[in-house]
Amino acid sequence: MNQTDFSFLSNLLKEQSGIVLTADKFYMLESRLMPVAREFNMSGLDDLTLALRQRDSALTAAFTEAMTTNETLFFRDIKPFAQFKDMVLPYLFKARANTKTIRILSAGASSGQEAYSIAMIVKDALEKNPDWNIEIVGIDISSTMINKAREGMYSQFEVQRGLPIRQLLRHFSKQDDQWQIDHSLRAMVQFKRWNLLDDIAPLGKFDVIFCRYVIRSFDSPLKTRILSKFANEMPADGCLFLGLNETVLGFSSRFKLIKDVKGLYAKSPDSSASAS
Ligand SMILES: C[S@@+](CC[C@H](N)C(=O)[O-])C[C@H]1O[C@@H](n2cnc3c(N)ncnc32)[C@H](O)[C@@H]1O
Repeated sequence: MNQTDFSFLSNLLKEQSGIVLTADKFYMLESRLMPVAREFNMSGLDDLTLALRQRDSALTAAFTEAMTTNETLFFRDIKPFAQFKDMVLPYLFKARANTKTIRILSAGASSGQEAYSIAMIVKDALEKNPDWNIEIVGIDISSTMINKAREGMYSQFEVQRGLPIRQLLRHFSKQDDQWQIDHSLRAMVQFKRWNLLDDIAPLGKFDVIFCRYVIRSFDSPLKTRILSKFANEMPADGCLFLGLNETVLGFSSRFKLIKDVKGLYAKSPDSSASAS
């Protein structure tokens, strides 16, 4: 592939998803895009690029989806989920005593492991607080990932990644060589195909947003925009989980790191829609 085509594809990907395709990712193009070319009966990447230049919408969607990185696992990094269980939820059970409603967003949910990890914690918490309404919404740009998340069906390899055996036996049932998460947990999470570049206001307000290992692929102005959208859709005491090596520093003054808690941000007291 020549530099002109590479630049065209990088620009298209950024415009569609926000993902920045750096030159070191050049090697990915062939392995990610050859299956798309085959699916659309094209002989190779030259044909595919030519067709993408014609702005075919189904092909553009398939291209964008193929270029997403969907790496995920249950209880990824462990600690953030312990903090959610031991700090954030107990706080919200007190702070939302009037409405008894809590809403949680998993943004960039991939195949659902993050949202279901949250749901397992929430399910336990609901045993002591049965009259509460806790909504979990999982969104991702990839419809393949969203369909997989809705089905809640995972391979042996996937359930071995991060999921304690106790939780596997308690919440999953074996279906041939796959494991499906129980209906009660699937019913706790609503999965929607959603692009973070679009307005997220129609999803409603969220007390907690998990957006882990997603915005690291975006450029700085987009990080600022996305963090600002999150702040707009949160109450003053909302909180945000980012990946452990991700930060708002330099991108947004609307969140502040909670002291000594890596990856967990509270909305800044002076946060207003006009601030970055
Ligand atoms: C590396 S995965 C992270 C999954 C999960 N949050 C975790 O921490 O394990 C990043 C996900 O973000 C999604 N994503 C990338 N750009 C997006 C966008 N513009 N809108 C919504 N989802 C996006 C990808 O499809 C992918 O599934």
